[in-house]
Amino acid sequence: MTQTHSDRTISFRPLVESDQKIIWDWLHIALWDPPPAGLRPREVLDHPGVRIYAEHWGRPGDLGVVAIVDGKDAGACWLRVLPPGVGLASIDEKTPQLGIALQPEYQHQGIGSRLMPETLSRAWRAGVEQVALTVHPQNPALTLYERCGFRKVEMRNGYHLMVVRAPAKEP
Ligand SMILES: CC(C)(COP(=O)(O)OP(=O)(O)OC[C@H]1O[C@@H](n2cnc3c(N)ncnc32)[C@H](O)[C@@H]1OP(=O)(O)O)[C@@H](O)C(=O)NCCC(=O)NCCS
Repeated sequence: MTQTHSDRTISFRPLVESDQKIIWDWLHIALWDPPPAGLRPREVLDHPGVRIYAEHWGRPGDLGVVAIVDGKDAGACWLRVLPPGVGLASIDEKTPQLGIALQPEYQHQGIGSRLMPETLSRAWRAGVEQVALTVHPQNPALTLYERCGFRKVEMRNGYHLMVVRAPAKEP
């Protein structure tokens, strides 16, 4: 579906195996630290605890959506189920952990507000029951997450663990 927002054309496509190179860029951006810290050194992507969110993209259960703005890939929101206990937002063996990032030039223009509900609705259609994420308490994206239905569950390593459940099915 194509929508116009602030005179820009936004559409969506699945995040696929052949996107692997750019997924690393987006994961790098998603590792947000409060200002004045900028992006972490790129080597952070070599850490096994970071790689788990992006490596070998396209495994069964992986679900991601790319936002295309004026014909260009602007960023993505992606979900991956990891083994229990693996990943900061780990809940159980079937709850995917979510990442989201837009290239800096596409941030704060309402694109994330379109991308996240689109990704969640695809997850619900795929039978996902709930989605988890962690976010730094100072990350303004918290507002976006709450607006999309995420609720704070607990603190983990200084981050909020947040969860959203699939809407109840019509009887
Ligand atoms: C998080 C991110 C995907 C949000 O997408 P976005 O398109 O920038 O967000 P939107 O423009 O749709 O804004 C949605 C809401 O989020 C909040 N928000 C998000 N980032 C913000 C920022 N840096 N400054 C102020 N508000 C921000 C605002 O409250 C906004 O609400 P509003 O429309 O009522 O003002 C994007 O900003 C991004 O890639 N940030 C860097 C990576 C990151 O932090 N990822 C999340 C890690 S948990």
